[in-house]
Amino acid sequence: MEVALLSLLILSILHVGTGLSLNYYDKTCPNYEATVTAAVKQAMATDNTVPAALLRMHFHDCFVRGCDGSVLLDSTANNTAEKAGPPNVSLHAFYVIDNAKSAIEAQCPGVVSCADILALAAKDAVALVSHNWGPTWKVPVGRLDGRISRASETSLLPAPTSNFAQLQQRFNQLNLSVKDLVTLSGGHTLGFAHCSSFQNRIHSSNSANGLDPTLNPSFASSLRKACPANNTANNAGATLDATSTVFDNMYYKMLLGGMSIFSSDAALLTHPKTKGFITTFANSQQAFNLAFVKSMLRMSSLTGGQEVRLNCRKVR
Ligand code: HEM
Ligand SMILES: *[C@@H]1O[C@H](CO)[C@@H](O)[C@H](O)[C@H]1NC(C)=O
Ligand SMILES: *[C@@H]1O[C@H](CO)[C@@H](O)[C@H](O)[C@H]1NC(C)=O
Ligand SMILES: *[C@@H]1O[C@H](CO)[C@@H](O)[C@H](O)[C@H]1NC(C)=O
Ligand SMILES: *[C@@H]1O[C@H](CO)[C@@H](O)[C@H](O)[C@H]1NC(C)=O
Repeated sequence: MEVALLSLLILSILHVGTGLSLNYYDKTCPNYEATVTAAVKQAMATDNTVPAALLRMHFHDCFVRGCDGSVLLDSTANNTAEKAGPPNVSLHAFYVIDNAKSAIEAQCPGVVSCADILALAAKDAVALVSHNWGPTWKVPVGRLDGRISRASETSLLPAPTSNFAQLQQRFNQLNLSVKDLVTLSGGHTLGFAHCSSFQNRIHSSNSANGLDPTLNPSFASSLRKACPANNTANNAGATLDATSTVFDNMYYKMLLGGMSIFSSDAALLTHPKTKGFITTFANSQQAFNLAFVKSMLRMSSLTGGQEVRLNCRKVR
């Protein structure tokens, strides 16, 4: 409750100037929010990988051309879309957005953008796996959908091998701070990574034993067990923290103990300022919740589209 109230206060400061608002669909599609929530809940009932997938999908959307649903477009005969680009390996659960869109189209055709549906679904994903203490927030709406989606532009997404300077630079280009970087990386409290995404930390040619020296040794050996050299199992990998279906601050606790999955996570420890945020979040779920709401609102107000699609996979 307290968190919800505070996030409303934060929100009223933040959404000024983004063109988004809380009442955008009040007249044209009053049930939009509950309809998206119902679709997310229904999918989660049979697939517990859905929340992580939706949160990551929204991040990928916002970091390429703004939150304009470009990540949702399918490739066409003459265009290879973002979702077919290299970092897409774990993007999945697009069907949840399709289901939400169909339910919304049945109520108010051509009104609610796919970009808004994805932003709302990401909020639901977090709130629904947070129990009662986790973050939730009101998502300002009014995003438009874009008409362009290029696989080549997924190079704008940070790589798991990125160092601190690279991460900071990309976030900064989007007017996101190093606090946003640390906070949003907390999305790695949910979900799973394939071996290829952290291969560089456990089978490296740059160190005598092949290990990233910042990894906790027993954690490193468990990662190696899951991902042997020349691993051929496509589905092999590791969860991003020890409680990977719950939105909590475990990611930060593990990060401090040398138990993060990506080099990009470990890189957040290399600066005193960001290390301070990590310590704060590791010690306080409440501090993390509040910061997460704030940073999600900032990331999801990067807009960019031109139209409202009828089908999230195709331009109008
Ligand atoms: C800071 C730079 C970031 C990098 C380099 C990064 C990189 C990655 C990589 C490589 C994966 C695993 C892909 C795979 O192997 O299947 C992943 C998974 C994930 N990321 Fe990030 N990420 C970043 C930021 C974020 C942000 C900002 C969010 C959301 C707020 C996020 C949410 C997730 C989630 C939820 C998963 C798990 C997806 C699933 O299980 O389906 N990440 N990330
Ligand atoms: C794709 O190619 C077809 C046939 O060449 C063309 O008619 C269509 O305009 C192209 N679409 C786009 C989006 O470029
Ligand atoms: C991701 O990209 C690979 C090729 O890079 C492709 O085979 C795969 O189908 C893509 N996944 C999705 C969800 O489009
Ligand atoms: C970042 O802020 C600057 C200055 O206010 C603005 O010109 C620029 O468009 C912003 N960039 C993004 C991606 O919002
Ligand atoms: C993995 O493959 C490389 C090159 O294909 C080979 O040199 C190496 O010995 C292999 N390692 C293991 C543990 O099989």
